[in-house]
Amino acid sequence: MQFQWYPGHMTKAKRAMQEDLKLIDVIVELVDARVPYSSKNPDIDSLANGKARILLMNKYDLADSALTKRWIEYYEEKGFFVTKVNSKKGTGIREVQEVIRKACEKKIERDRKRGILNRPIRAMIVGIPNVGKSTFINSFAKKACTKTGNKPGVTRGKQWIRLNKTTELLDTPGILWPKFEDQNVGLRLAYIGSIKDELYDIYELGRLLIGYLEKEYAGRIADFYEIENSEDSAVLLERIAEKRGFVKTGAEYDPDKAARCLVDDFRAGKIGLFTLERPDMEEEM
Ligand code: G4P
Repeated sequence: MQFQWYPGHMTKAKRAMQEDLKLIDVIVELVDARVPYSSKNPDIDSLANGKARILLMNKYDLADSALTKRWIEYYEEKGFFVTKVNSKKGTGIREVQEVIRKACEKKIERDRKRGILNRPIRAMIVGIPNVGKSTFINSFAKKACTKTGNKPGVTRGKQWIRLNKTTELLDTPGILWPKFEDQNVGLRLAYIGSIKDELYDIYELGRLLIGYLEKEYAGRIADFYEIENSEDSAVLLERIAEKRGFVKTGAEYDPDKAARCLVDDFRAGKIGLFTLERPDMEEEM
């Protein structure tokens, strides 16, 4: 399946980010815990230029917890400060403030030696679209402000959000992974719903998703839909259509509707909690 998914405004966002980087102490990058590799933007690695890095594994409530743990270790080994969050429910959000403090410890110490006390930490929030950035910012702002009694306020014109005395956030437009030639990355982002649905064929996407899930989590789809399993993804989709009564006009099963249902159920975490990448897959990715 071919995707065209690197709009021009993302190149512009990258340039803007280069400028913003001069203003901040720490980069907080959100990734989707179901695809911690594909949803991570490698541009930031080259732009970061020695800034402290935090990685938030968002939507961990939808991911395979054993793999989330492995990915956290993997990125920690690469020098990131990592924690998992569920921005929707607010789980893990409170810990983020502490992680920011830890990541900026050296800077705070340098400031202190130079007599600069209580300068707020300035954090830049980045992430590809749909990774949960707005949800995270809202949730984080609420928690940080409840604690201090502050109200988040927009300061200085840019998208600065002053959380409390110790932290200011700079929001940036989402930047999508630029390895747009890598079809595997595109495919995984399509599975989780980060690529517009019009850009791919839902039946084909459903079949490919089944292929992956059957390889890594065999039998889970059949269990969820209470159908007999099959090695053939087309047969499996037909069985889902049959079970759910998805028929086209004329009594024929509607495999497209079954694929749509499967993809939606997968995205909502109904079929199970899955992670679509493992750290040891990086070479294949
Ligand atoms: P963005 O700014 O990065 O583009 O993403 P945004 O916050 O709009 O979030 C994209 C979708 O992801 C939203 O769902 C949001 O509710 C969901 N989301 C964000 N964080 C989490 C999380 O930690 N766990 C789960 N399960 N979902 C999360 P939506 O379907 O667009 O909206 P809604 O149905 O939630 O209203």
